[in-house]
Amino acid sequence: MNMFISCSKISYQIIALLVLFFSSESVFATDLTIASGDTGNGQALLRKQLDDFEKITGNKVAIVDMPSNSSDQFAQYRLWLAAGNTDIDLYRTDIVWAPQLADQFLDLSSAAKDIVAAHFPSVIQSQTVNGKLIALPLFADAAVLFYRKDLLEKYQKSVPKTFDELTETAQYIQDKERMSGNKGINGYVFQANAYEGLTCTALEWIKSFGAGQVVEADGSISINNKNAIKALENAHDWVGSIAPQGVLGYGEEESRGVWQTGNAVFLRNWPYVYPLSNNADSPIRGKVGVTALPSAHVDEPSAAALGGWNIAVSRYSQHTQQAIELAKFLASKQAQKERAIALSLLPTIRTLYDDPQIIDAQPLLPQWKPIFETAVARPSAPTKTKYNEVSSLFWSAVHDTLSGNGTAADNLARLEEKLTILKGNAW
Ligand code: GLC
Repeated sequence: MNMFISCSKISYQIIALLVLFFSSESVFATDLTIASGDTGNGQALLRKQLDDFEKITGNKVAIVDMPSNSSDQFAQYRLWLAAGNTDIDLYRTDIVWAPQLADQFLDLSSAAKDIVAAHFPSVIQSQTVNGKLIALPLFADAAVLFYRKDLLEKYQKSVPKTFDELTETAQYIQDKERMSGNKGINGYVFQANAYEGLTCTALEWIKSFGAGQVVEADGSISINNKNAIKALENAHDWVGSIAPQGVLGYGEEESRGVWQTGNAVFLRNWPYVYPLSNNADSPIRGKVGVTALPSAHVDEPSAAALGGWNIAVSRYSQHTQQAIELAKFLASKQAQKERAIALSLLPTIRTLYDDPQIIDAQPLLPQWKPIFETAVARPSAPTKTKYNEVSSLFWSAVHDTLSGNGTAADNLARLEEKLTILKGNAW
């Protein structure tokens, strides 16, 4: 009898434990992990969107925080993916990575067949490799020029349209302000650290000087030319004059830091900077203007680098269904709309540019649409799996030139040689 009681007690306890175990979310719901590095308030909004996803689906999603520097993220992702890492289900990916990481991500084309038509075809194209849609767009980026409205007004200067005008105005205001005691002010800040951001910045310089796009769409190497040399010599002269020497170590966030503390007249950066500059606690709130980047000559168009971020599902994920569902959720119209309203990030869904709530919250956003539509792509499509090396050779040659380590002419000639070797018979 005693034995019977104790047996039934044990089995009761086991059943109770099993009930508890099977009814707990950890069994029925999936734990997903997303690797994401972001700038500004991007991570906070991502967390909010993941919380919404958790409420709807019961899944839990953890973020693996990555550094904001795109090149650092890429290096780490490549290691994880090469090792077949099963801990990370989704990766937030830069627009230029698609050809290099295509084999490691799932093809989302059938899962996303009903939604792709709503996006700008060029963005979908950028994420399509050999017919595989390897990531869904979260937002697009196109670089813009931020300027201090109050300082231009104070010195009766107009918004610069060319690099020469920018140089002159930046120097003038920097000199006057410093003379009147504003010692920390700089004329112009931008991203010139040796990383992917410098590839974007320098591509804008050379493209607007009529010097091509480093490697052209047909795969030919075009970087070693007179105009490219001029463009880099021009930028070299900024370092230590209108830009601080420290610009050689600036990424997006470092340059935004200088700008947002009120210490720059002009800034080259991406749209995410706009709402942050106007935060309640920002010293430059209400003083910020934004326009297209300057061009080399009045009659030539300026060039903005095309950027943007996407969401990809790892082929090593053990929860692919739920991960695809999350990718679609984060790329959805609603999620893009929230990103546009809260962070002024450019939607890749066309109709969102006419959305009254977005226009109300971010009145400048429709103006950025043409900048994005005409933005210049980095040569990731023609150089395929070698893009990262191409970019790294390019930004190194530019960084050397800006630092006074060799002339623009020598550095670009050497770059051409290295790119030719890297290319071999074909990219
Ligand atoms: C921005 C762009 C991205 C680019 C990066 C460079 O995040 O969206 O495409 O590679 O800046 O720093």
